[in-house]
Amino acid sequence: MAALFDGCTIRKAMSSFDFSLLRQPRVYFGPGRFQEIPSLITEFGTAVLLVCGAVSLQRSGALSALVERLGSDSLDYHLCTITGEPSPELVDRAVTEFSDAGIEVVVAIGGGSVLDAGKAISAMLMKNEPVERFIEGRQGFREHDGLKVPFIAVPTTAGTGSEATSNAVLSSVGKEGYKRSLRHPAFVPDIALIDPELMLAMPAELTVASGMDACTQLIEALLSPFASPLTEAVAISGIEAFSRSFLPACEKGAEDIDARGGMAYAALMSGIALANAGLGIVHGFASSVGGFVDIPHGTLCSTLLSPATRENIYALREGGSGYREFLSRYARVGRILSGNDSLDDRDACNVLIEVLDSLQQELNFPLLSNFGVTEKDLDYIVGRTRCTSNPVDLDDRVMKKILQERL
Ligand SMILES: [Fe+2]
Repeated sequence: MAALFDGCTIRKAMSSFDFSLLRQPRVYFGPGRFQEIPSLITEFGTAVLLVCGAVSLQRSGALSALVERLGSDSLDYHLCTITGEPSPELVDRAVTEFSDAGIEVVVAIGGGSVLDAGKAISAMLMKNEPVERFIEGRQGFREHDGLKVPFIAVPTTAGTGSEATSNAVLSSVGKEGYKRSLRHPAFVPDIALIDPELMLAMPAELTVASGMDACTQLIEALLSPFASPLTEAVAISGIEAFSRSFLPACEKGAEDIDARGGMAYAALMSGIALANAGLGIVHGFASSVGGFVDIPHGTLCSTLLSPATRENIYALREGGSGYREFLSRYARVGRILSGNDSLDDRDACNVLIEVLDSLQQELNFPLLSNFGVTEKDLDYIVGRTRCTSNPVDLDDRVMKKILQERL
């Protein structure tokens, strides 16, 4: 009881903070809820654009079952198939093709790339301009006004959290390539329908990469200087779900609906946390490396998380007492992932580094050189890497070291 009435304790626990939560999607979560899509569509109208991936949904039969339901419910549907990560050209082409179709709602069913494509198409259907004008950091950038066609996100992977975020990442790969966002608070999906049954057939490699993306987002949002008590609670809840579910989903994902549900929940929490707190250095690299070579986003996150966490922890320790709060947040992650509540902060940070290292070794995260990155590219990549939401400034030498370790 003494601690409750100790003024110092209360002041410390409730030191000043700001937060302003973005609008959240209406969430429908649970096995079998895919069946509810037709009735949710009718809330917005009868003309629907289905944005889907090229393979998995069609192979599983889920797409043909949905299309049959839409037909029997007299809904007017159009189909847009997405292959690979969405580019501005892909979005513009889709908008041109469907802008006269009277689309009243966009439903994207797929992984992060499909959800981002659907989000961008829903944002651009009411505009008569190329999407590139509204992409952050591009020449002539203009703020989007947020006017869009209603959007329903149905993830089939557990990773990006795009079902809860306000941005769509668009890619243009090459020497002058980029991965940047089309963003507006209104772009948070109107509905996120999350059915873990859709994830049962996810291949092991994708389960690992997307799961590590969610893990990276949860840790980076937790460590952000813009985190609030609310986003911290969301991130911790997601990290606990990740800790319980990730390895079972990797090992026997085809039959373990609880593990798939746990990872779907972790990904959703990562989306809510990152949308409201920002992300760290790994996602800074995701933008610079990801625009430079064609590497799946989750793969990049998985391979850089361990060295980036280690360098962040070392830099925070060198930074002195002003950074203790961030170290104690890393320590919370270390205690959750190791299952050892009794560790003090220093040991828990060390254990976190060990746990991430062992995941890297056991699950064989690919090296950057597998995707064509070479030593001579590193200075260029580092020079293009920006990250304002990392808990500590890393100098160019340290950023290069992170990349070198996974070359
Ligand atoms: Fe990510």
